[in-house]
Amino acid sequence: MATFRTPELDRPDHADLDPRLQIETLRDSDRSDRLAAQAADRNEILNGLAQPQKTLPAKYFYDQHGSELFEAICGQPEYYPTRTEAGILERYAGEIANATGPCELVELGSGSSTKTRALLDAYRDLGEPLCYTPIDVSRTILTDSARQLLRDYPTLHVRGAIATYEQALAELGASRDAIDLPSRMLIFLGSSLGNFTPEECDRFFMQVRDFLSTGEYFLLGVDLHKSTAQLEAAYNDADGVTARFNLNVLDHLNSRFATNFDRDNFEHWAFYNEHDRQIEMHLRCLKTHDVHLGDRRFSFTQGETIRTEISRKFDVGTLQTQLDHYSLEPVNVWQDPQGWFTSILTRRIAR
Ligand code: AVI
Repeated sequence: MATFRTPELDRPDHADLDPRLQIETLRDSDRSDRLAAQAADRNEILNGLAQPQKTLPAKYFYDQHGSELFEAICGQPEYYPTRTEAGILERYAGEIANATGPCELVELGSGSSTKTRALLDAYRDLGEPLCYTPIDVSRTILTDSARQLLRDYPTLHVRGAIATYEQALAELGASRDAIDLPSRMLIFLGSSLGNFTPEECDRFFMQVRDFLSTGEYFLLGVDLHKSTAQLEAAYNDADGVTARFNLNVLDHLNSRFATNFDRDNFEHWAFYNEHDRQIEMHLRCLKTHDVHLGDRRFSFTQGETIRTEISRKFDVGTLQTQLDHYSLEPVNVWQDPQGWFTSILTRRIAR
C-alpha cells in the first residue's frame, strides 16, 4: 500500500502498447512548482523538529526500502489489519457489488492492489465491463500491478494515475474511457485514514465529497478500537520489522535532506494512547546529541522522542455520523467475526 509516498517524478510517461492500459501522471506542472514543493517539505521538517514534542511527517516512511518493509509488516502474524480486511472483502465483495451495481472502481493508494482483486472478481460477475482507476505515487508499483491485473482479467480496462491523494481528488474527473459505466466507487482501504489527524480527516472527507457526484459511492476500510495488548503487539512485532520501518525514516531523511541522523542513537517505541484512541510511533533518543539540517541545529536529549506516526482506531457509529456530515450517507457496514476491522459503504447524497 502506498499511503504517503512522494511521487516518483524521474521516469517519463510512455505510451503503453496495451490499449486496455492508460497511465497518466498528475504532477506539479513546472520547475518552480517543484522547487516550491521541496522548500515546503523542508520547512515542514524544520517546523516539526522545532516543536516541544518533535514530530516527523509519516510520508517519509515510504522510500523504496520503507515500502518493502511495510509490505513485510502486512505479513507479520501480529499485524492483523491486512489479513482481516482481506477476509472481509473476500467474504462480502458480492454484497458490495450488488449494493452499488456496475461501477468504475477508483482506488486511492492502490499499491499492489492485492485486496482489490476480491472486488474486481465481484464486479466482473455483474457481467458489465470492468474499469479500474488505481492511484498511487509509485509508478513502478502502479505499472507492475496494472500489468498483472490485465493478464488476470481479460475484460479489464485500467486507467491509472500517478498522484498524491490530494492531486487525484482535485484533478481526476469522471472516466474518459470509451467504457461508460453508470457510477463510480471511490475505495480507500487499509485504515490509511487512521494516519490522518482529525483535522486532516475532515479535509479529506470534504475532498471525497467534492470528488464524487450525487449517487456515487465511497468504500472505506478502517481499523477499530480494541484491547491495548492486541494493538501494541501489532506495532511491536517480534521480528522487529516495524522497528526497522520506523528507524528507516532517519536514513530516508539523510538521503533526501542531507541531515546527519545516526539511527544507532534512536530506538523504536510504539504504544496505544487510550485517551486519543491512537497508536503512536516514536523514535526515542538513546544519548544526548545534535542533528543538523543545513544551517539549523537540533538538540536531542537522552530519553526524548520524535513522534513519527499516529494510527487512529475508530468506532463505527462515530465514523458514520462524521461521514454523514459530509453528505456521505451510510449504505451498509461489514465486519469480521471478531469485530476488529470494518468496511463502510456510503453514497454521496445531494445537500
Ligand atoms: C499505512 N498505515 C495504515 C499503517 C498503520 O497501521 O497505521 C502504517 C503502519 N505503521 C506501522 N505499522 C503499520
